[in-house]
Amino acid sequence: ETQPRLPVIYLNLQECTCCMESFIRTAHPLLEDLLFNMISLDYSETLSVASGHAVEEARKATMRDYKNNYLVIVEGSIPVADDGIYTTIGGQSAQQILEETVADSIAVIAYGSCATNTCVQGAYPNPTGARRVREIVKNKPVIDVPGCPPIAEVITGTIVHYLTFGKIPELTNLGRPKAFYNQRIHDNCSRRSFFDAGMFVEKFDDEGHKHGWCLYKVGCKGPTTYNACAITQWNNGVSWPVKSGHPCLGCSEDNWYNDATPFYER
Ligand code: SF4
Ligand code: SF4
Ligand code: F3S
Repeated sequence: ETQPRLPVIYLNLQECTCCMESFIRTAHPLLEDLLFNMISLDYSETLSVASGHAVEEARKATMRDYKNNYLVIVEGSIPVADDGIYTTIGGQSAQQILEETVADSIAVIAYGSCATNTCVQGAYPNPTGARRVREIVKNKPVIDVPGCPPIAEVITGTIVHYLTFGKIPELTNLGRPKAFYNQRIHDNCSRRSFFDAGMFVEKFDDEGHKHGWCLYKVGCKGPTTYNACAITQWNNGVSWPVKSGHPCLGCSEDNWYNDATPFYER
């Protein structure tokens, strides 16, 4: 309560903004609590009231006034083909903005699969030359929070961990917060007993589907996916893809858009 709020710069690079859509639906903590009591969201192209030069100046003011004392969140990949023309803001390429912004930051959270593994933009043949944050940022700690999009409480939980303990959370060998990414979807799935019993949905809307059987044969990637969906769940713990009858597509796994397609086949 006595600490000043931590300045945060949130960059939207080559992305679809759905990660931000997820972020603003956080329930633990509530977004209002996060924004008014915990962090100072000094720059967000999407959420800021200011726009144009005024908002770009806000980013530069944070970099100048809070040197080595602000956090950067990056949503989106970094397109480097053709001198980066596929994403430019205020006359700068995504790569220039990212390099400039992280230079005096504490750490960088690569938020969402675009930022951590280039996701749909990086799908073959990757026409924009999309790169992941880790490929560009070499001199600062990078925390990967993958998912398309990630669960809101996974990103806000990662931020709150830093605020509470003053250090980045323990990471897996792939650089993801262990608390959220060290368990396999398949090992916590409510349909697992059907998998073990060999009771599979053969096609959508068949009797097995209506009875909640295992979705493995219609493309479920739960056996190879590490994420918190089956435990934390979505929308304040209401449901998650498999619970609502859709296979896990493996959206938090590396190179998933190339490896998991076609989605509904094994
Ligand atoms: Fe959109 Fe998915 Fe990329 Fe997030 S990771 S910006 S949801 S395409
Ligand atoms: Fe595993 Fe998917 Fe079947 Fe669940 S629905 S038990 S995650 S294969
Ligand atoms: Fe993604 Fe699978 Fe969760 S598709 S949202 S990791 S259930």
